[in-house]
Amino acid sequence: MSKLAILGGKKAVKSAAGDMFKWPVTNKAMEDAVIKVLREGNMSGSDITKEFENKYAEWHGVKYGLGMNNGTASLHSAFYGLGLGCGDELIAPAVTYWATALPALSLGCRVVFADILPDTLSIDPADIEKKITPRTKAIVVVHYLGMPADMDAIMKIARKHKLKVIEDVSHAHGALYKGKMVGTIGDAAGFSLMSGKSFAIGEGGIMLTNDKKVYERAIMFGLYERHGDVTDKELQKGAGLPWGGYKYRMHQMSAAVGLEQLKKYPKEMAEIDKSMNYFWDLLEGVPGLKALRPAKKSGSTMGGWYAAHGLYVPEELGGLSVARFAEAVKAEGGICGAGCNKALHTHPLFTTLDVYGHGRPTNCANMPKSVKGKQAKLPVSEGIQARTYSIPWFKHFRKDVIEQHAEAYRKAAENYKELLKDDKGSASSGSWGLFARR
Ligand SMILES: Cc1ncc(COP(=O)(O)O)c(C=O)c1O
Repeated sequence: MSKLAILGGKKAVKSAAGDMFKWPVTNKAMEDAVIKVLREGNMSGSDITKEFENKYAEWHGVKYGLGMNNGTASLHSAFYGLGLGCGDELIAPAVTYWATALPALSLGCRVVFADILPDTLSIDPADIEKKITPRTKAIVVVHYLGMPADMDAIMKIARKHKLKVIEDVSHAHGALYKGKMVGTIGDAAGFSLMSGKSFAIGEGGIMLTNDKKVYERAIMFGLYERHGDVTDKELQKGAGLPWGGYKYRMHQMSAAVGLEQLKKYPKEMAEIDKSMNYFWDLLEGVPGLKALRPAKKSGSTMGGWYAAHGLYVPEELGGLSVARFAEAVKAEGGICGAGCNKALHTHPLFTTLDVYGHGRPTNCANMPKSVKGKQAKLPVSEGIQARTYSIPWFKHFRKDVIEQHAEAYRKAAENYKELLKDDKGSASSGSWGLFARR
């Protein structure tokens, strides 16, 4: 066994990264498209955005797409579009980026968190059922870290209880769930398209739905300049001002980049998928490390592998903390970040904070007095940060480089006894915000 770099041995990663981790990948066609928008003085129009929306929706086989200035806006609009409002409850997974759930507060909703599954990191269908009350209106699902959520079970529960389902596809553009594109299974979907994401177009987001009413309500909410496109007579009565008081228009430079991105994304996604799967195949059977990816031949895929993570089993490594493990991988020249998102139900914003001056916590401000700010304990969500780590995001299939990175992981895991000596036991507590991108 070769000596760990953290203890003075040679590094496993010897090759320079080059453009292996460079993101986003841009090309001349994108540059030309942006300059055209700039020169034509067409940054705040909607024509290019509409073209992008149509093509993005077509790619998914969905009727309506609505471009917006970010993914948060697309989720906010999807919630509004589906009719979430004062006194309604939205069930959300506790481990995700805040935008999956937080926009519901400004609609007067209460967010009720459900636990996640330890092997997929997505919302636990059994826990969803436990969290349903007469006030529950919808479930928001995240294909977290690229891993498709268990949509069959979730849709079954939703249909049984007559609940709406919103998919947050910000981590899984182009991924398949049992052969179906994620974002096409629920009642509406929101996607972040900001430049760190696998489908990167700048700051941007898009909402997809097959339901015309949802689409038109979303236009009423944050796109007042497009109220003329709305056909519903009732909605038309309120045309002219944005119902939400928000302006969510997509920048046309982003839309122009998006049109070009659509042309090259399938090829990029295929190369990333091949590279990432190769990394995990190399680590198959290494103690303590488990891939976060769908089973082969399940018909499910990871899409562009945004913010890919692995599962960590400290019991197989003598209790070694993920923080110490990540330190050792990094010392090898590898890429590894301990933890994942913090559990949102532990933040005061979802329990005690009074944001709008209701005199009660915002998360229960519009609920009967018997409903308090408390959230249930969610054991998996509260402990998962010590059982996950981010892995390198390979953009190119360069076997030798991927093999060196896998070797960094293997070395750290196989030498765990050496690492235990200096392990301060500090498990990562995770992060509220974005992950470091590589
Ligand atoms: C799961 C998830 N949902 C929603 C968003 C919000 O997207 P945006 O940053 O484009 O507003 C993000 C952004 O990182 C995200 O990770």
